[in-house]
Amino acid sequence: MTKALPGKLRPKAKKSSAGSEGLSLIWPLAAQSIIPIPKSTSDIGPGPGVPSYWLPSMKAIQFEKPQSFRVIDIAEPGKPGPGEVRVRVHQVGICGTDLGGYLGKMPFYSYPRIPGHELGVEVLEVGTGVTNVQPGDRCSVEPYINCQQCYSCRRGFTNCCEQHKTLGVMMDGGLTREILLPARKLHVSRKLDFEQLALVETLAIGCHAVNRGAPKPGEHVLVIGAGPIGLSAIEFARISGAKTIVMDMVESRLQFVREKLRVPDIILAKGNEDDLKRLAELTNGQLADVVIDATGSNKSMAHALNYCAFAGRLVYVGITQQEISFLHAPALHRRELTILASRNALTGDFTRIVTLIEDGVIDTAPWITHRTDFDGLIDAFPGYVKPETGVIKAMVKLG
Ligand SMILES: NC(=O)c1ccc[n+]([C@@H]2O[C@H](COP(=O)([O-])OP(=O)(O)OC[C@H]3O[C@@H](n4cnc5c(N)ncnc54)[C@H](O)[C@@H]3O)[C@@H](O)[C@H]2O)c1
Ligand SMILES: [Zn+2]
Ligand SMILES: [Zn+2]
Repeated sequence: MTKALPGKLRPKAKKSSAGSEGLSLIWPLAAQSIIPIPKSTSDIGPGPGVPSYWLPSMKAIQFEKPQSFRVIDIAEPGKPGPGEVRVRVHQVGICGTDLGGYLGKMPFYSYPRIPGHELGVEVLEVGTGVTNVQPGDRCSVEPYINCQQCYSCRRGFTNCCEQHKTLGVMMDGGLTREILLPARKLHVSRKLDFEQLALVETLAIGCHAVNRGAPKPGEHVLVIGAGPIGLSAIEFARISGAKTIVMDMVESRLQFVREKLRVPDIILAKGNEDDLKRLAELTNGQLADVVIDATGSNKSMAHALNYCAFAGRLVYVGITQQEISFLHAPALHRRELTILASRNALTGDFTRIVTLIEDGVIDTAPWITHRTDFDGLIDAFPGYVKPETGVIKAMVKLG
């Protein structure tokens, strides 16, 4: 049994199969159940003669409900089971999904929830049968927990598993000291630091979106929306050898693209026919072979067809709960367009991105605009929701 630390003892939580929602069959996680914070020091541990049901605990940050955080104590995860690893969480990236969870605007989010799906972790202990990582390894985490059994998983579409759960969204995530993970979801790097490893997941979303559009060198890619997801798509559009054009309606976002990602061709969207004219000028009148809409706006998504070249591809990486409507004949049919959804990312995307950062093809330095630590997060978080703070990626250092 793990040695109990004085002042860190809490009654052992009832073991749940996964987080506060249960994930039977998929990933028999060790307990992450909430243990009440003691009201008085007499609640803190029994002292000598500790009963076996007392276990050490650790702090976690939890969205109790929209716009309400709290620091809670949860049981330490215990020993990893077969195929699992116990990891120390060093860095957690905050993204739009976390902001949406905080604001109560995320469709797939449930409460209470410990957020944190963009993780840079260190392996502490491995369970039986684990061969891809060992204690001391620094890793990025693929936070999409899939069942490995459904029709999608069996065909390799693990990103859209029918039972899919993203860590920190549909099950508890990494805003705590240690968690258990399936070893197969870890991607080791001997070179990257924990911040870089925590950034891999954001990049993976853009990587997958660009793979869906499959631009060829010399083709034109238009990325609409220069938030973190659009920026991640821009990185891979550039790597594909396509000519990249970026559109947003916020000047400061385009300034970031021009100055930090060094993409010269930008369009400040005015919402009128000038936007299409400007795109035509930048593409010799052909428009964009691939359009990637990363706005999350159903209006932008409906209009995006008009930016596609004949036989072009339109990728929706942004997400909306609203209807997207457009006329079939003038654009979709006449130009014979292909519309593609893009969800999460694949294992191979994570491996590829780790190598691209290691090789200096992707520079992570401009990405991280804000930093805080576990104790500072609750105060800092509401600022990340405000566009005027200029946040692209905030990183939370744990431990
Ligand atoms: N596909 C996935 O698996 C996946 C994963 C994570 C996030 N997302 C989604 O990606 C989207 C983008 O996320 P984000 O964090 O970058 O959001 P964000 O809000 O930071 O960025 C969106 C950008 O789009 C711009 N925009 C909005 N409407 C526009 C319009 N009509 N014309 C031009 N620009 C416009 C905004 O100014 C902003 O810069 C969200 O919908 C999010 O839910 C998808
Ligand atoms: Zn994210
Ligand atoms: Zn599945």
